[in-house]
Amino acid sequence: MSGPHLRDFKRIVFFTGAGMSAESGVPTYRGAGGIWKEYDYRRYACQEAFVRDPAAVWEFHNYRRGLVAACSPNRGYHIVARAGERSARVTVVTQNIDGLHAQAGSREICELHGNLWRVRCDRCHVKQQDGHVVREELRCDGCGGWWRPDIVWFGDHLHAPILDAAQAAIEGCDLFVSIGTSAVVYPAAYLPEYARKAGAVRVEINPDETPASHLYDVHLRGPATEMLARLADGDAELLA
Ligand code: OAD
Repeated sequence: MSGPHLRDFKRIVFFTGAGMSAESGVPTYRGAGGIWKEYDYRRYACQEAFVRDPAAVWEFHNYRRGLVAACSPNRGYHIVARAGERSARVTVVTQNIDGLHAQAGSREICELHGNLWRVRCDRCHVKQQDGHVVREELRCDGCGGWWRPDIVWFGDHLHAPILDAAQAAIEGCDLFVSIGTSAVVYPAAYLPEYARKAGAVRVEINPDETPASHLYDVHLRGPATEMLARLADGDAELLA
């Protein structure tokens, strides 16, 4: 039996969170083993902490770099990357900073919360890309300011052009697939609302219910890799 298939849609948006990387071995933020259970974001992931103690903040981020560098994109990432091969235009809107979508070969990616492998100078704002390494040089060679991870910390604003691009992609999509997000961090958590307004088919992949579950037509309660594989196989029951 064959049902609606990913290839039946013209514009697909995958909206991903930490659960997308869980099966790659990257810890999520909340829930069992979550980063924010072990590390207080007020000490490691906000501008005030960085001003107070940049070295401690870098120690935390270097630790996270080490964790992510040991991981690679799981099967779900490859399904997402291949989804556009036939006809659909695919945009990935991600809250993840680990860079695994790009590593898997996805091309159109809106990284709402920045990237763990990029830094920007806290003083002159110049940006720099790092390899998959622990950062040792903590001062900007141009102006002597501190490099900070180019990621969105608590209290930071999202980069407006990226948020706008994400919104535009979602407003134009006919299939919106949310994967592995707890839907509690704004403004990202608001984005599914644009898919609802656009009349897109909306699928939530998450083992657990979330505060946004009511916005979705289809709920796939299970791990991202397995549920994405079912979606890609055109499992008749899923989207019928
Ligand atoms: P969370 O850690 O808040 O939520 C992870 C979600 O993934 C939960 O709803 C889990 O149920 C789900 N999950 C766990 N394992 C899964 C699996 N194998 N397959 C599918 N889903 C699974 O992560 P986010 O929602 O991404 O921001 O968090 C949002 C933002 O909060 C992050 O981008 C980060 C954090 O503070 C910044 O750092 C700026």
